Amino acid sequence: MENARNIAFKDFGKRDGMTTGQVADVFTKVADTYDEYMFQLWTRGFRQIDGLDPSTGMMTEAMKKGVYTDYYLEFMDGHTIGKLATDSYDGLVAAAAFNTGLLPCAALLEMARLVKPGGLICFGIPHACFTDVKEYNNRLEPLMQRMELDGMWKLLDKKHHDDFYDNANPGNVFRYIVHASDVDVKYYVEKLCHAC
Ligand SMILES: C[S@@+](CC[C@H](N)C(=O)[O-])C[C@H]1O[C@@H](n2cnc3c(N)ncnc32)[C@H](O)[C@@H]1O
Repeated sequence: MENARNIAFKDFGKRDGMTTGQVADVFTKVADTYDEYMFQLWTRGFRQIDGLDPSTGMMTEAMKKGVYTDYYLEFMDGHTIGKLATDSYDGLVAAAAFNTGLLPCAALLEMARLVKPGGLICFGIPHACFTDVKEYNNRLEPLMQRMELDGMWKLLDKKHHDDFYDNANPGNVFRYIVHASDVDVKYYVEKLCHAC
């Protein structure tokens, strides 16, 4: 348990080399000690909120909050989540989801598919992750920019936070407005590979 806590909250590098299922299991082990950021949406008046996370433990804890309409035990990794139709959502928040062993770059493509044109996608990324996380180095930022150049989305704003993740890990919270949802995932994944 102590080890799981360390891997979940402190020593993110230990997630390098773990399978996606193993990472989800780590979060299942610590789920009961976890604070749910999504709860903030409820307190601000949102009433139709779905959740998604591959960890069973996180789902159990999240459902105790009583704020989710539906919850999907799924990975967001660029594959098309069959249960979720294109343009299903007005907005999507990926909270504490970009870091070692968590969402891969291609997740952005599935996120864009799920949100309606005119809708909002919001996610935070610690500055260091753009270079220190192997999956993101020279890939995540170019993908975000390429999607904008191609008219898939437009950056609304990015806000700097000095104290990301409560451990003096500075980063930005990005907000993008989706313009198109007909995502050619193969095209972007190929571009990602060229950037490797
Ligand atoms: C740092 S926790 C954040 C949990 C929650 N979003 C929050 O803000 O309270 C990271 C979460 O990402 C989940 N995760 C890991 N890989 C994922 C993937 N490919 N797609 C979706 N969630 C993933 C883990 O199971 C874990 O619950």
